[in-house]
Amino acid sequence: MEKIKSRNVKESLDSRDYGTKVNVKGWVRTKRGSKNVVFISLNDGSTIHNLQIVVDLEKINEQTLNNVTTGAAISVDGELVKSLGSGQAVEVNAITVDVLGTADPEEYPLQPKKHSLEFLREIAHLRFRTSTFGAIARVRHTMIFAIHKFFNDRGFYNIHTPIITAADAEGAGEMFRVSVLNPENPLRDESGSIDFKQDFFGRETNLTVSGQLEAELAALALSKVYTFGPTFRAENSNTSRHLSEFWMIEPEVAFSDINDNMDLAEDMLKYLVQYALDHCQDDLLFLNKRQQDEEKNKKMDQRSPMTLLEKLQFVLDNDFLRITYSEAIDILKNSKPNKKKKFSYLVEKWGVDLQSEHERYLVEKHFKKPVIISDYPKNIKAFYMKLNDDGKTVRAMDVLFPQIGEIIGGSQREESYEKLMQRIKECNISEKDIWWYIETRKFGTVPHSGYGFGFERFIQFLTGMGNIRDVIPFPRTPKNAEF
Ligand code: 4AD
Ligand code: MG
Repeated sequence: MEKIKSRNVKESLDSRDYGTKVNVKGWVRTKRGSKNVVFISLNDGSTIHNLQIVVDLEKINEQTLNNVTTGAAISVDGELVKSLGSGQAVEVNAITVDVLGTADPEEYPLQPKKHSLEFLREIAHLRFRTSTFGAIARVRHTMIFAIHKFFNDRGFYNIHTPIITAADAEGAGEMFRVSVLNPENPLRDESGSIDFKQDFFGRETNLTVSGQLEAELAALALSKVYTFGPTFRAENSNTSRHLSEFWMIEPEVAFSDINDNMDLAEDMLKYLVQYALDHCQDDLLFLNKRQQDEEKNKKMDQRSPMTLLEKLQFVLDNDFLRITYSEAIDILKNSKPNKKKKFSYLVEKWGVDLQSEHERYLVEKHFKKPVIISDYPKNIKAFYMKLNDDGKTVRAMDVLFPQIGEIIGGSQREESYEKLMQRIKECNISEKDIWWYIETRKFGTVPHSGYGFGFERFIQFLTGMGNIRDVIPFPRTPKNAEF
């Protein structure tokens, strides 16, 4: 017997050695037939495109043919031939077809028709098999790789920071507890409070909201580091841009100020968008078309002025506009939607936090380019940010993107021991939980900066998906931890 080479769908579609015998395996997307032949459209996740398998009805028995249904897994031995049909250069003339796993059409929920994203979320165990979720998974993977490449090429070291922690890095108290105490009957101390000394770690612990504090420790020795890890937030935000479990990239750089930090953020974002355009072409073309189809269902005034690909190009072509919080507030106060009371949160005075409607107004309507806002009031930002000389604002910087709003949040860090201690007291942070962080300001402290980059928000931007639940395989959100 002639040895038959295995080729995946992508390799098969890219090959031109017509006449070669190959074995291809995958899942059936569709089957359609005519009098003498059946056409099977096969996908194995290696590409957005399907491979057409042509089966002569004389070569396949009826039982096998009946089992070749949408969702079934098959293995095909056949010959690569030049396709006669339009739409593909190559197809496979089947010699034998084996069904590896059937999928009862009465039960298989993914039929070859358009399913709503809401429905697909309920079948997240199968949605990888759709074109949309296959494309997103490949883009996501390529971006993980590109992020490591970007930082590695620039001399950064990747640091694993703890997932279980006793510190609240953001001081917002939005943490998930990690405990092995019996919830029915936890051990209590003399005063009647839950005795966390008896808990697994001998203290209260939670899932981390950020790896920043530990990344700072590493940066103050290795100079340039970054984390790429899961972060957890128990905030009850049921929006299209919030997850309870998401992935964050946190670079931290010694001898670097807020302007260097902004430059790094802008360089990184542009590098990643360019990398996606260079390496995810087929998937982005598909997602671009998908987004254009979605736009057609929207009212005229709600349609995006740009296609997905135009939006990506737009990020590459524009310098990000840099303004201070105070300047942003002036613009927002005098903006049309504020005066006409169209914002849900009206901007009346300096000091208020910016909502995503304000961020999107600045980016999409006012400046029409990505915006970096800096120097926020200290009262709406975390304790670790460097205080400006005005005593009121801190060296924070947020990068705002169209459709998304805040995609990056970062700052120059407070390197002065005295000023940091004062902020820790003002913010009621427990000194004893972060004594090690404080000590770095006593031993060789230097100016340093960093930021947190929300991976899923970025994938949302790249893929044009409206809801963040659709760019992570298994989303965790309030009241939802299925799969
Ligand atoms: O602005 P955040 O809260 O900043 C920090 O955690 C800092 N410790 C980062 C640092 O300076 N090292 O979060 C950073 C980014 C946000 O800009 C956003 O993109 C993303 O993380 N993010 C979320 N993404 C999805 N779901 C959520 N609930 C998110 N919260 C923040
Ligand atoms: Mg933030």
